[in-house]
Amino acid sequence: MRKSTFLIALLALEQVYAQTPTAGAPAGLQTPTSNFEWKEAYPVPIQVPSPKPEWVQSLNNATIPQAPVGQPAVPGTDPYCHWTSTQCKRPSDIYTCEQGHWGLSFDDGPTVASPPLYDFLKSQNLKATFFLIGGNVIQYPEMVKRMHEDGHEIAIHTWSHTQLTTQTNEQIVAELKWTEQAIKEIIGVSPVLVRPPQGDMDDRVRNITQQLGFNIAIWDHDTFDWEIGTNPLITPQSIEQTVRGWINNSSSGISLEHDRVNETVNVAINTVVPLLKSKYEMTTVAACANMTAEDVYKETAGQGSAGSGEGAATSLNPTTLFMAFGTVAAALISHAL
Ligand SMILES: *[C@@H]1O[C@H](CO)[C@@H](O)[C@H](O)[C@H]1NC(C)=O
Ligand SMILES: *[C@@H]1O[C@H](CO)[C@@H](O)[C@H](O)[C@H]1NC(C)=O
Ligand SMILES: *[C@@H]1O[C@H](CO)[C@@H](O)[C@H](O)[C@H]1NC(C)=O
Ligand SMILES: *[C@@H]1O[C@H](CO)[C@@H](O)[C@H](O)[C@H]1NC(C)=O
Ligand SMILES: *[C@@H]1O[C@H](CO)[C@@H](O)[C@H](O)[C@H]1NC(C)=O
Ligand SMILES: *[C@@H]1O[C@H](CO)[C@@H](O)[C@H](O)[C@H]1NC(C)=O
Ligand SMILES: [Zn+2]
Repeated sequence: MRKSTFLIALLALEQVYAQTPTAGAPAGLQTPTSNFEWKEAYPVPIQVPSPKPEWVQSLNNATIPQAPVGQPAVPGTDPYCHWTSTQCKRPSDIYTCEQGHWGLSFDDGPTVASPPLYDFLKSQNLKATFFLIGGNVIQYPEMVKRMHEDGHEIAIHTWSHTQLTTQTNEQIVAELKWTEQAIKEIIGVSPVLVRPPQGDMDDRVRNITQQLGFNIAIWDHDTFDWEIGTNPLITPQSIEQTVRGWINNSSSGISLEHDRVNETVNVAINTVVPLLKSKYEMTTVAACANMTAEDVYKETAGQGSAGSGEGAATSLNPTTLFMAFGTVAAALISHAL
């Protein structure tokens, strides 16, 4: 399983870059070959990149909490609020929605599996928050453009899909800023929302993320769709039971889903979204935190009508331009816990 994932990723990589690096680009960076006029060169998609020097120079290193890199919290103590160890959350973490509302989110895109989900959401007049992997963004820029034009929120899910608490301060900066830069080249604005892969964050990750002008948003309801294909207990039927349980028991939430492969997209279209829609008022993740549509991008933050999450959803004004998309193989990125 692991081996074939690796091979597919390598195959995809070959097609991401031209043979020769861009003249004048920093070492190791290349211009993507996807159908878009890239002004910038980028790191390889599935590796943890290095940051541009100016990105780390702007950090106030002295105030970054010195949580140990790559070590889970000792049982019984969690001074750095490590979510993966203890589910610890800080007030700044967005993870649930207002009473009666549900925040819809999809991680790990864009991929070749994504377009039917975009079509479905448009047909239902639903807006979601997409947490994008930078390495996928440079392969499928036309999908990023389409999501934005359809009125979805574009957010960051790191460059290489690594667990952020295992990375150095500099690597965390690189994971977020390269992804931000690639998205900004395509849609013209910089996302505010960041979701750490697997929710893996502590106060060091939070502090660096916030210093860079981002807000962290995770979830409180996991479909476990990311285990389809690796855990035989996770099937479309088991996911349906999970969501029926939420509907019976939860008054609100933000769910974790993925547009990573066809199976996860199909279960979203056929099961998860229709069930949720039957009970909750569906919104984006930002609307759950009373952020407006303007607040989700750095350049326009604070310029929307304040206060109402409802306003955030309705002030979006998507165009309906259809974008053709390529058929390059997706780089599969393992979610193994
Ligand atoms: C912060 O630390 C990094 C090394 O991790 C260094 O490159 C950067 O220059 C430092 N920034 C400041 C403002 O000292
Ligand atoms: C996955 O879905 C895409 C369309 O979204 C389709 O082109 C492709 O053939 C599907 N792949 C498989 C393995 O079914
Ligand atoms: C980073 O952490 C320090 C120490 O706790 C705190 O003073 C500072 O406000 C934090 N900065 C951000 C942006 O979270
Ligand atoms: C709802 O919550 C109750 C009490 O925690 C639990 O027993 C039940 O199994 C839940 N229902 C579903 C459908 O998950
Ligand atoms: C539905 O939720 C109620 C209240 O939490 C619980 O008592 C009941 O067992 C649940 N029903 C099912 C089918 O899980
Ligand atoms: C959002 O605004 C509503 C109405 O003013 C308020 O009840 C709710 O607590 C706010 N939610 C958040 C997360 O700030
Ligand atoms: Zn992910």
